[in-house]
Amino acid sequence: MPDPKPTTTEAPPLPDGLLDRLRETLGPRGVVTDAEALAPYLSEWRNRYQGRSAAVLRPASTAETADAVRLCAESGVAITPQGGNTGLVGGAVAEGGVIVSTERLNRIRSVDADTFSMTVEAGCILADVQAAAAEAGRLFPLSLGAEGTCRIGGNLSTNAGGIHVLRYGNARDLVLGLEVVLPDGRVWDGLRALRKDNTGYALKHLFLGAEGTLGIITAAVLRLFPRPAARETALCALPDAAAAIRLFGRCMDAAGDVLNAFECSNRTGVHLAETLVEGVTVPLSTPSPFYALIEFAATGADDGGLRARFEAVLADAMEAGLVTDAVLAETEAQTAGLWRIREGITEAQIPAGLCAKHDVSVPISQIPTFLERAEAEVRAVDPDIRLVAYGHFGDGNIHFNAVRPETVTDEAFRPRIPPIQRAVHDVTMALNGSFSAEHGVGLMKRGDVARYRSAVEVDLMRAVKRAVDPKNLMNPGKVLPPE
Ligand code: FAD
Ligand code: MLT
Ligand code: ZN
Repeated sequence: MPDPKPTTTEAPPLPDGLLDRLRETLGPRGVVTDAEALAPYLSEWRNRYQGRSAAVLRPASTAETADAVRLCAESGVAITPQGGNTGLVGGAVAEGGVIVSTERLNRIRSVDADTFSMTVEAGCILADVQAAAAEAGRLFPLSLGAEGTCRIGGNLSTNAGGIHVLRYGNARDLVLGLEVVLPDGRVWDGLRALRKDNTGYALKHLFLGAEGTLGIITAAVLRLFPRPAARETALCALPDAAAAIRLFGRCMDAAGDVLNAFECSNRTGVHLAETLVEGVTVPLSTPSPFYALIEFAATGADDGGLRARFEAVLADAMEAGLVTDAVLAETEAQTAGLWRIREGITEAQIPAGLCAKHDVSVPISQIPTFLERAEAEVRAVDPDIRLVAYGHFGDGNIHFNAVRPETVTDEAFRPRIPPIQRAVHDVTMALNGSFSAEHGVGLMKRGDVARYRSAVEVDLMRAVKRAVDPKNLMNPGKVLPPE
């Protein structure tokens, strides 16, 4: 659980001759060893881990990926798969061996508007996948703050969540078929566009969310949806988290068919975004203890009915005292401005300083209890911590970030992180929750797997890993706790 930045960045050397064989296979653009060019692959978004690797391999096709993996496997060299390197748990951080980047596997192979599916290579940037679907008049609904940088193979390997899960599901739910290079270099061709296929174990689900520990996803068939023609977005001020949960219930009841997002934040989250991130302005007259960003979206021609439905839900909620103030966007620019507040809360994490970060989920009804108990635990460690509680409340997913007090340095705060994380995860698990709702385990939460998942579950996971990757060469040290 601590953030182990190794003191040395020196990578263990590769076996003699391997780089020459890899260069013959992948060509000069396919192998990076220059220190300056390697650097971006070895650092990560929050600058918490430092990777070590002698080379980055950049295959341009599934066949090249398979050849490179086979050569590494024959030499006993470990591989860290990497997409956009936006993961938040250290899953793409190399601890030796080579990195296989999917950045040149970036073709949209086909978009089939009639059957609502598309086939893409793993290195496609998520925003490009969304754009290709939109060009064909369809929606690929996965959406998250890093969508301009993260790659679809990384999204599938982390089973990413984001802002539309309550309507369309997690990344796992958006996949029809997969193509995977296995740890020995064989290719599993499961690139089928079938909606029904009960022919034994659902192999694709092994690789989805496996964080690169079982193979490299090289391509996927994705599900598409009708594109909403109208959307309405509102920012609401609320008295507390309990009101947010009751408001969520009302939105589901009155408009569950069109509820597109239900994101929340406490005041500290919005305040930090407003003060630390450019372009964030809150268009409400007074600060509020809690906020909800709610979006309705409907397919079909808009006759104004969507706005009327939304206004009715908000008016009822105001009358019931659940909402104290609200602004409903009138223009696309205002909609973007409201979403900028949400993105700003995430972006503010970097300038705000070191934090004990949590990505937990609990049953939705337990969110207020979680917030109350977790805050008490955190304040017991440090009463001056700035608590940012925000995220995808419509999924029961809270990003609970305990940010260091302004008067404390990152270095002084660092030792307080493990006891805070332990206490917050204990509270989460006591409420039948999850210590990783959407970001995964990576390096950061291996200890939590050992602590909170049952012995039977850990045994089963180890058995799967041994069966698929008997030499432990595919992203070793991630997800599973050390034996
Ligand atoms: P990487 O970081 O490169 O890799 C992530 C993991 O997947 C690693 O374990 C890696 O080894 C493995 N991997 C990558 N590609 C492959 C492949 N082709 N085959 C096998 N394994 C592979 N996450 C959410 O779920 N919801 C959010 O709302 C969200 N918002 C974010 C906002 C910001 C600003 C940032 C920086 C991150 C956010 N994230 C969020 C986290 C991150 O963007 C996701 O985890 C994303 O899915 C990672 O994709 P990537 O391509 O960057 O993967
Ligand atoms: C988000 O929802 O903004 C994210 O998952 C990012 C984060 O928690 O840092
Ligand atoms: Zn999130």
